[in-house]
Amino acid sequence: MIYKCRACGETIQPFMSFGHQPPAASFYIPGNQVPEHFFELQPAFCPTCQLFQIVEQPPEAVMFHEAYPYFTGTSRAMIAHFEGLFQSLRSQWLDGTADPFVVEIGSNDGTLLSNFMNAGIRHLGIEPSASVATAARARGCRVHEGFFGMETADKVRAEHGAADIIVGANVIAHIPAINQIGAGVASLLKPTGVFVFEVVYLGDVIRNVAFDQIYDEHIFTYSAGAVRTVFGRHGLDLIDVVHLPAIHGGSMRYTLAPRGMRPVSTAVEACIAAEATQGLSETTTYERFRANCETIRSDMRRLLDELKAKGARIAGYGATGKSATLLNYCAVTVDDLEFIQDSTPIKQGKLTPGTHIPIRSPAYFKDNMPDYALLLAWNHRAEIEEKEAEFRARGGKWILYVPCVGVV
Ligand code: SAH
Ligand code: TYD
Repeated sequence: MIYKCRACGETIQPFMSFGHQPPAASFYIPGNQVPEHFFELQPAFCPTCQLFQIVEQPPEAVMFHEAYPYFTGTSRAMIAHFEGLFQSLRSQWLDGTADPFVVEIGSNDGTLLSNFMNAGIRHLGIEPSASVATAARARGCRVHEGFFGMETADKVRAEHGAADIIVGANVIAHIPAINQIGAGVASLLKPTGVFVFEVVYLGDVIRNVAFDQIYDEHIFTYSAGAVRTVFGRHGLDLIDVVHLPAIHGGSMRYTLAPRGMRPVSTAVEACIAAEATQGLSETTTYERFRANCETIRSDMRRLLDELKAKGARIAGYGATGKSATLLNYCAVTVDDLEFIQDSTPIKQGKLTPGTHIPIRSPAYFKDNMPDYALLLAWNHRAEIEEKEAEFRARGGKWILYVPCVGVV
């Protein structure tokens, strides 16, 4: 099979496969007769663009729809984080701007956007999934229901004018038509405007062997080098990078501006130099990553089998998107995990995609505490450990797998 880089069209080769995987958010309704969609999850690296990507994925409409189950507001830490992002965007870029206009791509349930709304700032969310768009509207946010691309950018510009800020958190990795994002942003942004996006960082994924960050929705895993190259082709300069080690297990905030309009921070060059030192463009880096993934898979299987042989009860914690890759790659089934607790009502009562493990509420977890809980929402570890002090007090132990399998 020949695959092309989605940014430049050069031929690329996957360096490994995580096997057949379902769309990570396609939580299965018990008794559903409809066969699940599966695709081959294979990452590849384009040496021309420095762009890490998966070569196959389900259609966008299979991933983002009226029942899309990820709600940003399920994490207190994320609510606080996005309030902080709002504060810094406002003070850095909107001070003194008359009647500013802010566009958020992938505005989800309005967790970030509502901050702009509450401050009386003209705003518009672009969000294709009706489940979350409805939630954002219910709190008063203005939302255009649809996918961001050239066409939407032109429509928004014609209706509302050009934007002072275009912001997108955990969404720029989700849009396969990467050149449409570049061209759309370049056309919708004012010459004085900025494009700010946050997304899981390739350097952290590789360093921490966080392979579960690779799933259908994460078509791209960005590095600063890739962002500079890919968006540079659309006349956008990468002017700043801020590492966010605590967000989604390691993210980067990228700020871009129309060419030549803003000075470039020294942080950009420093980050790109660090990426070279880390070997993010080297084939051997990805060969080592593949071997590390295989080690985690065999360690995970061994641990689960040993614990089960001792008669331990094991459950999962957090039916995250990420967990689809881990559970399917490591062939974890209901024989391993009795259930997975998740606080999102829309996920409860359903089964995990592919592996069909039942998802239960926090109340169920409280009443049926296992001996071990596999922390699938490991990126929220601090928040969850604090919340689940009783689990610890009753002798419960956490199973972790990033950066390696262990029990704490
Ligand atoms: N920004 C939120 C949500 C991230 S989940 C946060 O950081 O928590 C990704 C969101 O992007 C989903 O709500 C999904 O429906 C939306 N999305 C996916 N493709 C999109 C596209 N092409 N344009 C705009 N939003 C998109
Ligand atoms: P998250 O790791 O943010 O995302 P992704 O789907 O991108 O991998 O998902 C966290 C999941 O964990 C979400 O379904 C809500 C759930 N959760 C809990 O059940 N309890 C908690 O205390 C927190 C913070 C999250």
